[in-house]
Amino acid sequence: MSDSRAWRLASRPVGLPTAENWELTTDPIGEPGEGQVRVEVEYISLDPAMRGWLNDVPSYVPPVGIGEVMRAGGAGRVVASSDGRYAEGDHVIGMFGVQEQAVVDANGLTKVDVHAAPLPKWLSVLGMTGMTAYFGLLDIGRPEPGQTVVVSAAAGAVGSIVGQIAKLQGARAVGIAGGPEKCARLVEQYGFDAAIDYKSADVPRALREACPDRIDVYFDNVGGEILDAALAQLAFRARVVICGAISQYNESGPMRGPANYMSLLVNNASMTGYVVFHYASRYAEAARQLGEWYAAGKLTSREDIVSGLEEFPDALLKLFEGTNDGKLVLAVRE
Ligand SMILES: NC(=O)c1ccc[n+]([C@@H]2O[C@H](COP(=O)([O-])OP(=O)(O)OC[C@H]3O[C@@H](n4cnc5c(N)ncnc54)[C@H](OP(=O)(O)O)[C@@H]3O)[C@@H](O)[C@H]2O)c1
Repeated sequence: MSDSRAWRLASRPVGLPTAENWELTTDPIGEPGEGQVRVEVEYISLDPAMRGWLNDVPSYVPPVGIGEVMRAGGAGRVVASSDGRYAEGDHVIGMFGVQEQAVVDANGLTKVDVHAAPLPKWLSVLGMTGMTAYFGLLDIGRPEPGQTVVVSAAAGAVGSIVGQIAKLQGARAVGIAGGPEKCARLVEQYGFDAAIDYKSADVPRALREACPDRIDVYFDNVGGEILDAALAQLAFRARVVICGAISQYNESGPMRGPANYMSLLVNNASMTGYVVFHYASRYAEAARQLGEWYAAGKLTSREDIVSGLEEFPDALLKLFEGTNDGKLVLAVRE
């Protein structure tokens, strides 16, 4: 039996989470029972959705309970196995929580090849955020060659992959992101056709200029005013993909909904939400395609790695401040 440190939810946040909402504990960790493995967690995926899991409201997963280890995806190494499919030393991804070690059911694991790509990439372009971009864009957005795809939070984990997949489909990609550095990266590193800095630009006007043929696919990660600006520019039969609404996640009052939704009627357009977990039966297809594009150098990703488990409460806030640059990952050890 060894000890493992874990971040637990101490109280529910109102607005942005603060240090008081968390407790760092050290607990003994047991050996795996039949069908289980013990994983030494090396990287923890920090995701905007974690904020939603802290609210005591019904959602696609139950809220994290007070006193429970914070839920999180992660990547690590099997250190003990009571399941024939996994051996000590295998690298795996799964839901391990914000902790150093986890004993988990082997059925929830995916083995990954660290020779094909470093471990953090399996939480990023080759993992959950890559798949979110893949299904949301290709299954719901369905861009055709020459069509215009606009994506918000475009320099982030999901958005940067959406833009690149849009280009691989022969579409035009326009990204909306905060600040000149992120906007330059959209064009220079990820190959977007145009970038809009929502922190300095008049977004409705910038969208009109960047999308002279209007918007065929709007992939929304942020909600709020930017969603309304995009709705106002829809093309006939446009598809609006509701992937997230990060501008609303820390609202303590009611969330702001879209005001310009009549644009859907006028343009015979659709607006569809989704959760990537509902595509679980097709993960293998996405993994194969994303892996092929990555290996061929057609998809690139950037990971923003913060070191040290104790940094978790501050690191999570980077997502809401926009100070993460790429997929935000917590490395458990310095
Ligand atoms: N539906 C699903 O299954 C699914 C799965 C994964 C993720 N998501 C959603 O996808 C979105 C992106 O997630 P991610 O993991 O790729 O995170 P990310 O984009 O890497 O990081 C979040 C980014 O959001 C932007 N942002 C923060 N507050 C904002 C605000 N008030 N207005 C506009 N932009 C703001 C910031 O970028 P700037 O510097 O550009 O402001 C920040 O860097 C989130 O909404 C998330 O909930 C959905």
